[in-house]
Amino acid sequence: MKVLVNGVGNIGTTLLQVLSTHRDLLGIDEVLAHKSTVRPWDVPQLERLKDSGVVLVGDAYTAQATLDQVAHDIDYVFDAGRNGFGIERRSLYETFPRLLGASAQGTETTFGTPYVLGLGMDASAQRWTHIPSCNTHSALAVLRTLTDGDLDDVAFGDFVVARRSEDVGNHERLVAGNVVARHLDPVLGTHHAIDADKVLAVLGRRLPIQSSDITTPSQFLHSTRFSLRLRSAPSASEVRDRIARSSYVTSTQVFDTNKVFEIGRRFGLGGRLFNQAIFVADNLLVNDDLVSGWAMVPQEGNTILSTCAAFLQRSCGVTEAEVRTAALAEKLLIGPL
Ligand SMILES: NC(=O)c1ccc[n+]([C@@H]2O[C@H](COP(=O)([O-])OP(=O)(O)OC[C@H]3O[C@@H](n4cnc5c(N)ncnc54)[C@H](OP(=O)(O)O)[C@@H]3O)[C@@H](O)[C@H]2O)c1
Repeated sequence: MKVLVNGVGNIGTTLLQVLSTHRDLLGIDEVLAHKSTVRPWDVPQLERLKDSGVVLVGDAYTAQATLDQVAHDIDYVFDAGRNGFGIERRSLYETFPRLLGASAQGTETTFGTPYVLGLGMDASAQRWTHIPSCNTHSALAVLRTLTDGDLDDVAFGDFVVARRSEDVGNHERLVAGNVVARHLDPVLGTHHAIDADKVLAVLGRRLPIQSSDITTPSQFLHSTRFSLRLRSAPSASEVRDRIARSSYVTSTQVFDTNKVFEIGRRFGLGGRLFNQAIFVADNLLVNDDLVSGWAMVPQEGNTILSTCAAFLQRSCGVTEAEVRTAALAEKLLIGPL
């Protein structure tokens, strides 16, 4: 199985590190990476990826082959571009003769059918898969965790996403103050609930949810303030138990996102945290049917397990994918933090 990561930025680099480190577990023979724009300061990082066994393709001088030379051999594409690049490149991937499937991330919402790990979704028949954004992942993780997997329990869910302005390694979109995002839908609000609604639609469900978003002058993790009305009206201890037994999430007693980010930098593969949501423990408000609190969102890593699970479902079927995803989660997830 030969896989290509197209786009070597934040998500692309994290994905490359996971795919190359765990290639046997993922059933991958060769990992290729394509970078469209190679600037002189990108070269040492690309060389480092090459040293870890990644084959670089493209027109730049670091490349070992052109994309044209390897296209006939590629089985799966992980597109990691942004702002329409992934969607635009889908027609190119359609020409790859061996292509089993492809996925694209966050912004590329029309690339394919959405897939999020943990909701019992089946991407095995999907050639084109969309992996929704980090904050969509966290909202859905909060919903499935606090309902103990029974989404019918949700009477209403409200999410306020406090976004870090941009990744710590970028310098394009820093903000000076708090910037409120426009509500794009009169019922759902910002794209987070809109995208979560699209994921739930694949499962044949609708939930009464809405989201708002404020971008803050921070570069360390997003945070989400959630407020859920639950028909089961769980006790505070039951809510804590639901968080403890939920997959792909964890909790922390730390209240500062920079300190949680630092734990990822110290202990996570590539300095990343891969949990879908990190609940702030000992800070929940549980009053009858209303459960509120905060979850931190490790944006650079929390969509990676979904990305790998969708690939595994497509390449080896749902049953085998479940075993391999569990093994990968065991290697990547750390917690409590
Ligand atoms: N960053 C996160 O924490 C995060 C979390 C969840 C989902 N996502 C999603 O993942 C996708 C990639 O995000 P990212 O943060 O990894 O993005 P990024 O590092 O800023 O950019 C990704 C790639 O897009 C290409 N690109 C970016 N700006 C470009 C420009 N002006 N002109 C030409 N190419 C450009 C580059 O491709 P080349 O390398 O080929 O030159 C770059 O490596 C997005 O859809 C995003 O929504 C990101």
